[in-house]
Amino acid sequence: MKVTIIGAGNVGSTCASLLSQKDLVREIVLLDIKDKISEGKSLDISQMNAISCSNTILTGSTNDFSKSKNSDVIIITCGVTRKPGMNREDLVHINADIIRSVTKQSISLSPEAKFIIVSNPLDIMSYVSYITAKVNSSHVIGMAGILDTARYRYFLSKKLNISSYDIRSILLGGHGETMIPLYRYTSISGIPIHNFLSEKDHDIIIKKTKKGGEEIVNYLGTSAWMAPAASIVEMVESILKNSRRIFSCSALLKGEYNIENVYMGVPVILGKHGIEKIIELELNENEKILLKKSSNYIKSIIRKL
Ligand code: 2OP
Repeated sequence: MKVTIIGAGNVGSTCASLLSQKDLVREIVLLDIKDKISEGKSLDISQMNAISCSNTILTGSTNDFSKSKNSDVIIITCGVTRKPGMNREDLVHINADIIRSVTKQSISLSPEAKFIIVSNPLDIMSYVSYITAKVNSSHVIGMAGILDTARYRYFLSKKLNISSYDIRSILLGGHGETMIPLYRYTSISGIPIHNFLSEKDHDIIIKKTKKGGEEIVNYLGTSAWMAPAASIVEMVESILKNSRRIFSCSALLKGEYNIENVYMGVPVILGKHGIEKIIELELNENEKILLKKSSNYIKSIIRKL
């Protein structure tokens, strides 16, 4: 198995490192446009692998896409990250050009690869990559839901003093202010959340989750990378092992939830073909309105492109 990670910044290199530790793939190619960054980080991770008994081979390269040939999974993390005071949408024009270029350069060399898009604004960049790659939309998947759900689970665990590991949930909508954490679809070890937390208290958790990325940007001056990288690894594992796990991912909707031609967060089954199935949940009126609002927002930014 071969995975290429485009962008050797914080997210890309942490992802290469976490993925290596799993000893899941034979080869990871790390690409970056910045001279020698990928080479240096690959070497460092390779030497860590000697300590952690991983057999994954790292290849770092400055912009040589031929190294990515025949990848099973391609992870796009490159582009500009937001700074304090910016929202993800402020990056749309600059990152769209970058995503188009790297998708074009990699798709012809790995036409069967599953693409995981991480660059922001996530739902729009997933759409840009899909349009550029001209492949089945099940092969282009945006990473956001696992990250947003992790933040939601963390905030819930703090509030309830319960292990975040046992909290299960599903989120819908865009990666940003319009995301929709679902109270009705949250449980703790199978016990519905309403046994632990009122809907009113849950609203506070939703607000915190929506601001989860921003909170970190304000501390660090740049976007988060640890939890994003761990989220990517979950997706890669489910695809390569064909585990068919269910995650919220950004997927192209073709009429599901009565929404068309937009990438946004929905529960999907992830397996060897990428998105094996989009799961349509039964939504109440309020949830339907919120989802429509989220899709309209994403579409309005796509139109600007
Ligand atoms: C975040 O929410 C990077 O968008 C990502 O932290």
